[in-house]
Amino acid sequence: MGSKSFVLMLLFHFVLANAAGNFFQDVDVTWGDGRGKIIDSGRLLTLSLDKASGSGFQSRREYLFGKIDMQLKLVPGNSAGTVTAYYLSSKGSTWDEIDFEFLGNLSGDPYILHTNVYSQGKGNREQQFYLWFDPTADFHTYSILWNPQQIIFSVDGTPIRVFKNYESIGVPFPKNQPMRIYSSLWNADDWATRGGRVKTDWSKAPFMASYRNFNDKNACVWSNGRSSCTSSKPKNPWLSQDLDTTSQDRLKWVQKNYMIYNYCTDTKRFSQGLPRECTMP
Ligand SMILES: *[C@@H]1O[C@H](CO)[C@@H](O)[C@H](O)[C@H]1NC(C)=O
Repeated sequence: MGSKSFVLMLLFHFVLANAAGNFFQDVDVTWGDGRGKIIDSGRLLTLSLDKASGSGFQSRREYLFGKIDMQLKLVPGNSAGTVTAYYLSSKGSTWDEIDFEFLGNLSGDPYILHTNVYSQGKGNREQQFYLWFDPTADFHTYSILWNPQQIIFSVDGTPIRVFKNYESIGVPFPKNQPMRIYSSLWNADDWATRGGRVKTDWSKAPFMASYRNFNDKNACVWSNGRSSCTSSKPKNPWLSQDLDTTSQDRLKWVQKNYMIYNYCTDTKRFSQGLPRECTMP
């Protein structure tokens, strides 16, 4: 091979590796004493859980707005009692947070995808869904689009939940605190599966969840008090993205057929009146 083509080949590999994201560059495994592993030259990350400990990682970068994708393959078989959390969060006592949590189940019974939004330390905005596929059979893409107008949760490109900015009626919206991606696999058999009635079967441990194709290319990276998006670049269409009619129809389809809990309709829980954002059309 000539030296020119060798350089080209190196360049090609570098571009490919970057396009797909590389966990060695993108995240730090922060806990679990070796139970979190980056393998396959940085293309794959696995978290595991056994009786002694779970594990977790976090993104190296912090973001202030972004469209962030990750592919996850959840704990297969009997995953009852386990929770795989994947979320954005800031720090401090008045933190913001945007959550996906996957609540495991007995073999053949459906996972619950639990979502929540915290702004300035206040959450209580749960929506829960079943999925329209088996999330343990293959990788699926879970995305958070966070811009100044709204937060859109999507699964394989289908929006499942939208949390709009209703600051105009006094509802705080996450927009000032940079957030990091966090993920963890842990034991929550005191509440996760059928309200805590089904316990983790430790004879099936270690439990394992896998991650690939992390994509934060469409996110505004926050460092040293500055956003990478400050100059008004027209190349960030997601910063003002709204749902088109096809996506709105998909969202309605999910909410009609797969939503199993919505805080906005829980009048028993909010007997003093539903949260303000729930009264908006
Ligand atoms: C587990 O399966 C049961 C029975 O189908 C279901 O009621 C429950 O919502 C499922 N998910 C969890 C996490 O409990």
